[in-house]
Amino acid sequence: MQTSKVNVDQKKFWNESKGKSWVELQPKIDSLLKPIGEAALSKLNPIEGEKIAELGCGTGTMSFLISKKIGKSGLVQGFDISEPMLDYAEKRRINSNLVNIKYTLADLQTYEFKENSFDALFSRFGVMFFDNPVVAFSNLRRSLKRGGRFIFACWAERLENDWIELPTEIASRFLELPPTPPEKTPGPFAFEDKEYVISILNEAGWKNVSFENFSCAHSAGRTLDEAARFLGRMGPMSGPIENSGSKTRERFFEALKLELSKYETDEGIMMNFSTWIVSALNL
Ligand SMILES: C[S@@+](CC[C@H](N)C(=O)[O-])C[C@H]1O[C@@H](n2cnc3c(N)ncnc32)[C@H](O)[C@@H]1O
Repeated sequence: MQTSKVNVDQKKFWNESKGKSWVELQPKIDSLLKPIGEAALSKLNPIEGEKIAELGCGTGTMSFLISKKIGKSGLVQGFDISEPMLDYAEKRRINSNLVNIKYTLADLQTYEFKENSFDALFSRFGVMFFDNPVVAFSNLRRSLKRGGRFIFACWAERLENDWIELPTEIASRFLELPPTPPEKTPGPFAFEDKEYVISILNEAGWKNVSFENFSCAHSAGRTLDEAARFLGRMGPMSGPIENSGSKTRERFFEALKLELSKYETDEGIMMNFSTWIVSALNL
């Protein structure tokens, strides 16, 4: 990987605690994100023979789905800054014997792409973490052929995403949490403000930018205990909860289960998810 002085905090974050927990939780995370990935993939509409870059591909699930659509004559190249997540993706690729996927360890903001090399760029939640999104999105655009499309999913308004708001609020009753980062700081909700995303994409030279809100209720777990233990490892409260004493941890999980009972249905613990599916063209 090229050395870079940008995205230092995110590189550490995704190579240490968060990267490891995403590998451990891969089946659960994929189940949670499945409908959103499917909605974004149907917008991408990959065509047989295309060469597609998956940005911030993580543990590789979306590249497997793209690989099926583009067939043996196509190629999906997954890029990520996290070594543990990419190693795991590569193991899964080998086990599935998929020859039209390649993974590259890279910081997308600074990686020296070969110009005009992809037909399309795609990401499920992998492009909200750049120190300088305009520089990153300009760099990404150069990798795309003229007329190529860019489709990505990112989280919409934080307040419409109970799955992260609720555990964070409950953790704050028991622990001192790090202050909520200022709006637009690299992180899961950096792109909640649609106008901001439009402005950075335009500044980076993208055209025909369009947004769709994709919202759904989806199961965070079959039981209260399963959902609480999973969601307790997903958000900004996960580090402080993990490092707290066992008594505090259990009090947190009990309080979370109580609140989650409001979301309990026959299909499991159904939480709200609100995302943007963003499209843009390199014209
Ligand atoms: C929220 S995870 C999403 C992973 C995957 N797309 C998925 O949906 O399962 C964000 C991903 O973006 C990657 N990432 C963050 N900053 C990056 C950067 N500057 N360059 C490349 N990848 C980055 C992280 O390592 C992580 O895998």
